[in-house]
Parts: sequence; structure tokens; C-alpha cells
Amino acid sequence: MRQKTFRVGVLLHGALGLALWGATIAAVPAAESQSATKIPVPTELPPGELGKFVALGRDIVNNTTTNPLSKPYTGNALNCTSCHLSGGTDLKGLSFLGTAAVYPTYTSREKKVISLEDRSLNCFMRSMNGIRPANGSEVSTAIAAYITWLSEGYPIKMSLKGPHGPNAIPALKLDPAKGSVERGKSLYDGKCAACHGVDGEGVGKFPPVWGAKSYNHGAGLANPVQLATFLKNAMPLGNANLTEQEALDIAVYVDSKPRPKFVLEEHLGKKK
Ligand code: HEC
Ligand code: HEC
Repeated sequence: MRQKTFRVGVLLHGALGLALWGATIAAVPAAESQSATKIPVPTELPPGELGKFVALGRDIVNNTTTNPLSKPYTGNALNCTSCHLSGGTDLKGLSFLGTAAVYPTYTSREKKVISLEDRSLNCFMRSMNGIRPANGSEVSTAIAAYITWLSEGYPIKMSLKGPHGPNAIPALKLDPAKGSVERGKSLYDGKCAACHGVDGEGVGKFPPVWGAKSYNHGAGLANPVQLATFLKNAMPLGNANLTEQEALDIAVYVDSKPRPKFVLEEHLGKKK
């Protein structure tokens, strides 16, 4: 009896499979390339209160250190958009496009399943060297609403590769031991210092890349391979032209410089 049911199941499945075959082959490549060029970046906010809330999240991402809701939780001179370029809408700069479609997901860093909110709040503690806002707080929910708006049209797809949205750029396969701090320094002085300062302190509206006002040792970019991947795709801003070796040399140089230490307990809980 069981076996019979099974056979019927297989037959039905086969017939359905055939019927859907045309649709399936058409759908797979689109889903695989997640082609962001085909999924437009939203421009119109949802109507009403939801739209206002999404706009609040957008403002927090762009003006993290000045928005009164997020300011108390920041600990350096960076805004989310300093790394998630153009408010997370630039595919070359740690974009948020489609990101909401992969959460919740398992992360080996915390060894647990985390939500989209948890992931943003981790950046508050590490990349922003600040304090973790509470899950479900206005600041956290507003950011999640904004990222969800930027993910409209992307199919929900669980990530088996950790907390990386469909447009996350995979880390370059580089060996940090092959980077040279000396070469990195001269490349940095020639290609980066005009905007980020010879001492990494930032110039005017250009953000610092090391020192007390920069990301801490617990941040993703404190890992030279992750930093090199970011630089290769995004820096110099508007004219990303580094070879992989140059990106690695600059990354080991920048990440050899002093920055705030990361002690998890100091970033949990109450506002400063
Ligand atoms: C110093 C740079 C930096 C800053 C500032 C920063 N982040 Fe990040 N963020 C990163 C890096 C690096 C990653 C990891 C990207 C990856 O894993 O592919 C990341 C990942 C994320 C992700 C997960 C993306 C994904 O593809 O799943 C979210 C969400 C996020 N950040 C939100 C924020 C928010 C919100 C802020 C501001 C409160 C912020 N980040 C500030 C560097 C930064
Ligand atoms: C024309 C000016 C300019 C140049 C040149 C430039 N950057 Fe940037 N960089 C920026 C701006 C502006 C941002 C922040 C993006 C924003 O706020 O829109 C940024 C962001 C960054 C960030 C992430 C935020 C932070 O401060 O940690 C890093 C790291 C970085 N740049 C490193 C470099 C390196 C290394 C080079 C040289 C290869 C370089 N940049 C060249 C303007 C520049």
C-alpha cells in the first residue's frame, strides 16, 4: 500500500515536472544570477505610516551619527552608508539589495541563527564601535524596514553560506601573508590619503580608516581579506581601479594601524 502511494506520487511528480519543465528552465538562471539589474532598486516609498518608517530607517542608515534615534548607539565617526555605499543601494559597496530575503540565517561567528535585526545590530557593536540597540527597538525595526523595502522582488531564499545577501560579493581568495605593509603604505599615500588623511583620520566629510574614530578590531573590515575585497570593488570611491595585490597590500597596511579594541561585553546593553 505504502509503495503504491509512493509510485503514484512519483508518477504525479513526473507529470507535474514535465508540465513545469519549460517554466523551470526559464526561472533557474534568473534566480541564480539574482540579477539585480533586473530587479529595480525601489524608488517609491510605501504609502502612509509604513512609508514614513522606511524613510526613518533610510535616514538612520545615511546619518547614523546624527539621527537622534541612532546617535546614542554609535561609537565612531562612521555612518552605515560609509561602508554600505549609497545607503546600501550600490552593488559594489556592501549593498542591502535583497539582503532581507536570506534571514534568519546561521552564522558561525555567533554560532547561532540570527535575524536581520541581529545582523544590523552586530554592525553597531563592531563596525560602528558602538552599543547594541535592543531587538525590536524603533531604531532596529526602522533599519530592518528599510532593508526589507530594498529587498522587494527578491525571492525568499535561505542562505546556506552564512549571513550574506544575494548580492554580497564573495571574499577574494587572498593570503594575507602575501600582503606588504611597505607597498601598502606607498599605495595608500598615493591613492587614498587625499580623502582619508595620511594618518587615516579622515578629511572633512571623508571618513577615518583607522584610529579612535574608526571601526574596531571586531569589525568585518578589520579582516584584511574582507577589507581587500571591499577596496577592490569600491575604492578609490567612484574609480575603483586597484589590482587584487594592491588591494591586499593596502588592506594589510590599513589594518596594521591602531584602532579600538573589541570587547563584546562593552558593546552590549545600555546607552552611553
Ligand atoms: C566599517 C564598515 C561598516 C559599517 C560602518 C557598517 N557595516 Fe554593516 N557590514 C560591513 C561588512 C564588512 C559586512 C559583511 C559583508 C559580508 O558578509 O558580505 C556587513 C554586513 C552587514 C549586514 C549583512 C549584509 C548581508 O549581506 O547579509 C547588514 C544587514 C549590515 N551590515 C547592516 C549595517 C548597519 C545597519 C550599519 C549601521 C548601523 C552598518 N552595517 C554599518 C561593514 C560595515
Ligand atoms: C575621492 C575620495 C576617496 C578616495 C580617493 C578614497 N576613498 Fe575611501 N571612501 C570615500 C568616501 C566618501 C567613503 C564613505 C562613503 C560615503 O559616505 O558615501 C569612503 C569609504 C571608505 C571605507 C569604509 C569606511 C571607513 O572609513 O572605514 C574604507 C575602508 C575606505 N574608504 C578606504 C579607502 C582606501 C584604502 C582608499 C585608497 C585605495 C580609498 N578609500 C580612496 C572617499 C574616498
